[in-house]
Amino acid sequence: MEGKVVLAYSGGLDTSVCIPILKENYDFENVITVIVDVGQPVEDVKKAEEKAELICDKNYTIDAKAEFVEDYIFPLIKANGSYEGYVLGTAIARPLIAKKVLEVAKAEGAEALAHGCTGKGNDQLRFEAVFRSSDLKVLAPMREMNLTREWEIEYAREHGIPVSVTKEKPWSIDENIWSRSIEGGRLEDPAFIPPEEIFEWTCSPEDGPDAEIIEIGFRAGVPVSLMGTPMDGVSLITELNRIGGIHGVGRTDMIEDRVLGLKARENYEHPAATILLTAHRDLERLVLTRAELSFKSMVDEKWSEMAYMGLLDEPLFHDLNAFIDATQERMEGSVKLKLYKGSAVVVARSSPFALYSEDLVSFDESSIDQQDAEGVAKYHGFQGRLYKRVIDK
Ligand code: ARG
Repeated sequence: MEGKVVLAYSGGLDTSVCIPILKENYDFENVITVIVDVGQPVEDVKKAEEKAELICDKNYTIDAKAEFVEDYIFPLIKANGSYEGYVLGTAIARPLIAKKVLEVAKAEGAEALAHGCTGKGNDQLRFEAVFRSSDLKVLAPMREMNLTREWEIEYAREHGIPVSVTKEKPWSIDENIWSRSIEGGRLEDPAFIPPEEIFEWTCSPEDGPDAEIIEIGFRAGVPVSLMGTPMDGVSLITELNRIGGIHGVGRTDMIEDRVLGLKARENYEHPAATILLTAHRDLERLVLTRAELSFKSMVDEKWSEMAYMGLLDEPLFHDLNAFIDATQERMEGSVKLKLYKGSAVVVARSSPFALYSEDLVSFDESSIDQQDAEGVAKYHGFQGRLYKRVIDK
């Protein structure tokens, strides 16, 4: 008999069947579960706790919402973190969940760490990038045993584990305060139109009410207020998910390239994330220079790729954050957006650090002597003309 193993637990089918498997097949005496609350629905956390009570030896539930928002979501907003065009969601929560599981394992003097990820997805990589920073054994029963859903459902029934996935609703859902990802079942066919029932945060865009204008305040690149009222990150994101959801904002249906190279069809809901990144990007256009914007877009891209892969401990990731933070010092101001039937469009923005100058750009002002531009215009495209002369010879 082995000693203790600590399992990252969600209450879902995969991680639930891991519990008896770790005892029966891996011979552990104690299975300790850790539920990390990163803003998944309160009922899900409760249900997971009840299940854990039933089948594991000890459970820890850790409320990591504030830490998730401040140390993971805020840097993501500053970096406009998006992968292949969608706002990162699952990826950004995994390293924190793994970190909390590892902390419990150390405190418990456990021998091993376990997760319920399969060998096909990205999450195994994200968990293990953190787990393997310790000397503890890393176990991935789902991957090692190559299990199928049907087998798991049967096995769960035999072991008295309540199962909520059914043939009709076979969705695999990952949820945190920032994003809800839905995959599996018929959604795996990219030609299948997602049924309305997979969505929980957003209404169908066509059912949205009349347009609504909201105002978000930023300081140092992160959102700090809504409609002029200062709010902490968790409350602000929760409220924006609610308002955005009413307007059907933030649905994504896409083909995504996983780290291993597999293409996957994914559906997401992320109203607050869509609103905040739209607002943040717009404010950057008002405040940052052209050179900063173009260089930062490359930095953002690299940041996002590393975050997608869960490589948050790499030195380059810290270096990118240092650059990004420096650009965000002046990122203060306010952005107004119109929410309407699935869209979130910026309609106004202002900042004390705006590089924009109304009197310089205006057609009515004469503070710029337009004739000064003539010399520049003469040289503009100079090399193109040199080239043409040579070629036309
Ligand atoms: N494809 C996404 C990612 O790798 C989401 C995976 C979420 N998992 C799920 N069970 N829906 O970040």
